[in-house]
Amino acid sequence: MQIIAIANQKGGVGKTTITFNLSKELAHRGYSVLAIDNDPQGNLTSAFLPDPEAMQADVLSFYRNEYDIRPQAIEERLDLIGASIQLATVPDSDVLAVSSLQEGIRSLERKYDFVLIDCLPSLGLLSLAALTAAQHVLIPMKPAPFAIKGSKDLFTTIERVKRKMNPKLSVLGIVLNLVEGRTTTMGDQLESVIREQYGEQVFENKLAKGTKLEESPAFNLSISEYDQRSKGASQFADFTDEFLKRLKI
Ligand SMILES: Nc1ncnc2c1ncn2[C@@H]1O[C@H](COP(=O)(O)OP(=O)(O)OP(=O)(O)O)[C@@H](O)[C@H]1O
Ligand SMILES: [Mg+2]
Repeated sequence: MQIIAIANQKGGVGKTTITFNLSKELAHRGYSVLAIDNDPQGNLTSAFLPDPEAMQADVLSFYRNEYDIRPQAIEERLDLIGASIQLATVPDSDVLAVSSLQEGIRSLERKYDFVLIDCLPSLGLLSLAALTAAQHVLIPMKPAPFAIKGSKDLFTTIERVKRKMNPKLSVLGIVLNLVEGRTTTMGDQLESVIREQYGEQVFENKLAKGTKLEESPAFNLSISEYDQRSKGASQFADFTDEFLKRLKI
């Protein structure tokens, strides 16, 4: 089981969009996938379920030490453990809860090829819990001023979690998302600066800013379900290939 946290404490960089599309893409390629919404905003849950009231498995149970939940089937090979605003009631001071998600995933009867955890834009307890549960972190990054500066705190946190909680944690890579389609000097420079700073950690394949990737979750569809022939769909497929290659799958 490959457990991957999709994290960046910067908001709006594409964590949820990538978790949603990657979950579907992997399931369509024949892998069994569990998607976990670990964000009180519940955006991943809304992307999978048109009606959030229909949520049957809540990640909050884990944080309450209730381990008898059954992930909700979304489609063949794809299950969801969702979240709602109630998740915000887990206090950052509840230090013992940091291993709840790890214990919760371990307690699941069914094993999956991939568990993808969508993180919230914060480095508080819920994100620490995700980094404690995961083997890998995937970091979506938007080429924007201060992107590198902001990610320093994330890398420091990852190092801290590695030292104290989860020595096996590794950074799978940084994926550039929301890359401007038309070339701009500013955009190109920002991308080169990130590639220079992080070298091989940056995925070769990037994801451009595109209307279809933005629209598709509103219809509960991945980019390839929404428009198989779009540039966004082919970029996402290439990114998925590189994702699997980096995991040596
Ligand atoms: N490649 C893209 N092209 C166009 N729109 C995108 C792309 N990636 C993400 N978006 C849009 O940008 C917004 C932020 O994306 P998303 O919600 O995935 O980010 P996030 O990192 O999960 O945000 P948060 O930190 O609030 O959880 C959304 O409206 C989403 O539809
Ligand atoms: Mg999100």
